[in-house]
Amino acid sequence: MKIRTLSNLLLLFVVLSFLGIISFNLAFALKEETLKAEEELADSLTHALFLAVQEDEWYFRSGTVFDKESFHGTQRKIAQLIEKIATENRTTDRKILESISNINSTITSLFDRISSLTLKEREQEIFRVKGLRHLQYLEGKNLVKSIYEKRKKIHELFHLAGNGLTAALGFTIIFFLFYLRRRIHGPLLRLEEGFAALSTGNFAYRTDLRRNDEFGLLARNFDGMAETLQSTTVSVEGLKREIEKRRETEATLREEEEKLRRLSQEFHTLLNAIPDNLTLQDRDLKILWANRGAAHSLNLSSSEEIVGKYCYTLWHNRTAPCEICPVQECFKTKREAEATVYTPDGRIWDLRAVPLFGKGDEVVNVIEVGRDVTVHRKLEAQLLQAQKMEAIGLMAGSVAHDFNNILSAIMGYCQLALIKEKRGEPLSHYLEQIVSSCERAAAMTQGLLAFSRKQPANFALFDLNDLVRGFEKFLRRLVREDICLKYLYAEEKLPVMVDRGQIEQVIMNLVTNAQDAMPRGGGLTIETRSVYHDEELVRTHGYGKAGEYAVLIITDTGVGMDKNTLQRVFEPFFTTKSEGKGTGLGLSTVYGSVKRHEGFVNIYSEPGQGTTVKVYLPMARGKVIEAREEAPVEETLPTGKETILLAEDDQALREALATTLKTFGYTVIEAADGEEALEKFDAHRETLDLLILDAIMPRINGRQVYEKIKSIKPYKTIIISGYSKDIFAQNGIPLTEEVIFLSKPISPVALLKRVREVLGEIKSP
Ligand SMILES: Nc1ncnc2c1ncn2[C@@H]1O[C@H](COP(=O)(O)OP(=O)(O)OP(=O)(O)O)[C@@H](O)[C@H]1O
Ligand SMILES: [Mg+2]
Repeated sequence: MKIRTLSNLLLLFVVLSFLGIISFNLAFALKEETLKAEEELADSLTHALFLAVQEDEWYFRSGTVFDKESFHGTQRKIAQLIEKIATENRTTDRKILESISNINSTITSLFDRISSLTLKEREQEIFRVKGLRHLQYLEGKNLVKSIYEKRKKIHELFHLAGNGLTAALGFTIIFFLFYLRRRIHGPLLRLEEGFAALSTGNFAYRTDLRRNDEFGLLARNFDGMAETLQSTTVSVEGLKREIEKRRETEATLREEEEKLRRLSQEFHTLLNAIPDNLTLQDRDLKILWANRGAAHSLNLSSSEEIVGKYCYTLWHNRTAPCEICPVQECFKTKREAEATVYTPDGRIWDLRAVPLFGKGDEVVNVIEVGRDVTVHRKLEAQLLQAQKMEAIGLMAGSVAHDFNNILSAIMGYCQLALIKEKRGEPLSHYLEQIVSSCERAAAMTQGLLAFSRKQPANFALFDLNDLVRGFEKFLRRLVREDICLKYLYAEEKLPVMVDRGQIEQVIMNLVTNAQDAMPRGGGLTIETRSVYHDEELVRTHGYGKAGEYAVLIITDTGVGMDKNTLQRVFEPFFTTKSEGKGTGLGLSTVYGSVKRHEGFVNIYSEPGQGTTVKVYLPMARGKVIEAREEAPVEETLPTGKETILLAEDDQALREALATTLKTFGYTVIEAADGEEALEKFDAHRETLDLLILDAIMPRINGRQVYEKIKSIKPYKTIIISGYSKDIFAQNGIPLTEEVIFLSKPISPVALLKRVREVLGEIKSP
């Protein structure tokens, strides 16, 4: 039921209740009035009856007319009163009224008979009337009592009705309050809660009031509103979440983008860091993308300058693709392709083409990786060359060593024979021929030893300029007149730690070659210079160490060399010269000597264009020894009387040396090896003045013999060997004034001079 209906009903109920109470009170008041009037009548009747009772006796006794009249008057009055009560008041007990009326009639009839009665009878009647009157009076009293009781009942009834009405009203009010609480306050609270929830953003709140009244309507509207709000909020929330999600997605995207950018940058940097050429090419060999390495290989600063151009134009200087093109092959075969190509600038490239497939197996583009292997190839060739040289050197060295011993013996004997023979004797000419042939052979073995770097060397600090200048006189004699010889000296000093003889040999060999290359004359320039050979040069040349070098440059305008000749010039016995003209040891010697000095040689030559040979010697820091002219060879050979222990395993050489020494006055105790040397030493230790020990002997070598003897008593010693004295220094024999070195082949002159040098001046007897 609707609140309005209910409240209307309630209002009606309250109004009716009030009306009821008012009418009830009115009815009560009317009833009260009626009863009061009736009571008053009853009272008057009772009073009239009471008076009648008193009058009756008198009337009956006297029985006078007057009295009669008065008696009747009273009787009428009583009858009127009864009449009045009977007609006006409906509440009066009719029976009592009738009884009173009857008694009144009886008394009247009695009275009418009085005059005919005797006194005695009268007395009796009086008594009867008295009883009747008394009865009548009692009836009157009953009447009053009945009215009173009615009144009392009415009072009680009204009291009850009043209470009922009050209770009804109270109940109504309680009901109303309960109703208010139940039907209005509750929903109001729900709605209030609802609004409070809405205000805090809780749109999920529902009143859930299922009613048909206004509250129901309000609640439904509220719930609807909350629903709408919630759905709106949900959609707003959804929107918010969507925005948030989108933001997150955007952030992720940005992050991914940044990652991708960084990756691409790293990838680009990586590709640019690769020194090889990396290019992306299309079917026409057009460059679509290139790395920095590709640009650098073309001396361009940016790879963008390459994009859009053709591979064959850029690197091969052509107008059409090359015959061998791995990229074209790759497009054709759909497989990786490789090739080694030469570019016009003299570079060698290892090329590799890798296909890039599109949809299906179609090759869309090709990535070409080009590696400049020029230096690598050069290094490879140089390594091979170096290995070859090393092998040849080893072989040449060992041959030369043995050969030296033989030569030393031949030369020794020849020279001895020459000493014994007088000049002009028939044999002396042959002997001189043998010696000169031996000298040539010795020179060859020297060359071989120099090449194998086993030639003894005597390093000292020189200024390269001075060294060359000191050699000028000799060269002037060597060089033909049709050759224009020029010197270009470096202005600064060029200190080098060199074996002067070896460097002079180097110059001589190179000048001889230059001269041979200019059979019809030409220009020959000898130049000195200082250069700094940096890491880059080391890398590109593939040899040498980084550092400062003194360079000796010998240039001729001769016939030059082709590539094949150039590749082999350092090989021992490689010569293009006719037999007897060249041994092919000149440049091998140069190579060995310069290597020995930790330098390197470069030759630039082209057929018909002349040749430039550059000899790099590491620059030394220190006091430069003034280059001096060679001292003239002494004519007279020194003699001596001392006793010498000579240990040499090569019998021929030992005998030659012993003969030489003996011929010149010395006592020689010979030993064929180290062990024998020690035995002989034990036997002659008191008389010995000098030890001559071959460095390399079977069983016990020279060094061990030397050390054993030295531990007993130090002796002046000459170490003889075909190897460098440095090797001995390295092997633990320190060379001093007392211990000197003599390299093979040993000429008798050199031997006698060195022996005298070590032993000192001959003591006068
Ligand atoms: N300046 C040069 N110009 C042209 N060719 C040269 C020059 N120097 C050397 N060669 C070539 O190198 C070869 C080897 O030279 P190398 O000096 O080693 O031997 P050789 O001169 O032939 O003989 P050797 O020097 O022993 O008398 C020569 O035969 C020659 O063909
Ligand atoms: Mg030569």
